[in-house]
Amino acid sequence: MQFDLTEEHLMIRQAARDFAQTELKPGVIERDEHQKFPAEQIRKLGELGFLGMMVSPEYGGSGMDAISYSIVMEELSKVDASASVVVSVNNSLVCYGLEKYSNEEQKQKYLVPLAQGQVIGAFCLSEPEAGSDATSQRTTAIDMGDHYLLNGTKNWITNGSTASTYIVMAQTDASKKHRGINALIVEKGMEGFTVGPKENKLGIRGSDTHSLMFTDVKVPKENRIGEDGFGFKFAMATLEGGRIGIASQALGIAAGAYELSLQYAKERKAFGKTLADLQAIQFKLADMATEIEAARLLCYRAAWLKDNHLPYAQAASMAKLFASETAMRTTVEAVQIHGGYGFVKEYHVERLMRDAKITQIYEGTSEIQRIVISREVLK
Ligand code: CAA
Repeated sequence: MQFDLTEEHLMIRQAARDFAQTELKPGVIERDEHQKFPAEQIRKLGELGFLGMMVSPEYGGSGMDAISYSIVMEELSKVDASASVVVSVNNSLVCYGLEKYSNEEQKQKYLVPLAQGQVIGAFCLSEPEAGSDATSQRTTAIDMGDHYLLNGTKNWITNGSTASTYIVMAQTDASKKHRGINALIVEKGMEGFTVGPKENKLGIRGSDTHSLMFTDVKVPKENRIGEDGFGFKFAMATLEGGRIGIASQALGIAAGAYELSLQYAKERKAFGKTLADLQAIQFKLADMATEIEAARLLCYRAAWLKDNHLPYAQAASMAKLFASETAMRTTVEAVQIHGGYGFVKEYHVERLMRDAKITQIYEGTSEIQRIVISREVLK
């Protein structure tokens, strides 16, 4: 067993760190306040190859491993989780699923531009009445011979209005329950496809979250991913990798809040000393550092299992569960360490605390991760 990152990992980490400081940090407070999508920053991330990190170069990707992906997610999320969720969804829920399960024609048409960062994608599973209970899909895709007729509503869709390519899960044969669900590639602009208003969120406010409405959208048969009825397994298998991305996002949010707290504690004076001289603060920093290190090891382990083609569902859920709980605890403590300054926007930690909350909710709540983990444990 060895814990060192490779030279390549270290270089990727430095590149992501530099990008976060020079491109994401300026304007992050304003984007959060005004719910402004980081369009220019995402375009640059695409140019750097960070939107198709794990896709093979044959399909326009960077051919990197999942550990590199985790590293990049951590570094970007230290500064701007609204930008990093775009990176996570595009890499894990869109590109990965297409590379692994779509056919050659679909790869050429949809994966290549997504992996090259020319366009971005969205993954559409959640519905007004199907969130955690993902098998209860109400959106229907009726088989009309040469096409599916798509009807229904999707909720909480990241990249809702900015995406060009949408992977939509829909029920074709309700009598088969989850085995009657299909995953369809839907293009922006298809007749009958409309985007609802932007959600006004607690956190990750720069990201673009919408409901989507489908009314008699004709989706060509050749846009179905995999065999008839493969859609639910597609969604679950894709979400496994997504959970590594969100775990790493949570890790980054925690690490960002910790680094700001450490710096503040060394500078801020109280009772004739720096905060860092006070044991009450030292203990908080010690707990933060320990939990962050544990979260990082869980993220890297899940990524390593994925890179080595070993089962990683349980490891990904463990990483997401622990890292997201760590993000929440750490950011709350970071605000506490900053005192009144922690409560205002200029010091960044209040935003990190708001952003942390979503990591316990999306791509499976903490309760869903516990279901996945306990099923494996009890097998
Ligand atoms: N890979 C492949 N197949 C899988 C799988 C996996 N990881 N997990 C389950 N399946 C298959 C099972 O084998 C089963 O198929 P068969 O019956 O044919 O064997 C089928 O899926 C149903 O599985 P379960 O019986 O386990 O289903 P369940 O109803 O008990 O629930 C669940 C499973 C884990 C709770 C699941 O519903 C789940 O993960 N829910 C959460 C959904 C979620 O994460 N939503 C996030 C939305 S996406 C998002 O947030 C993106 C964003 O924009 C940021």
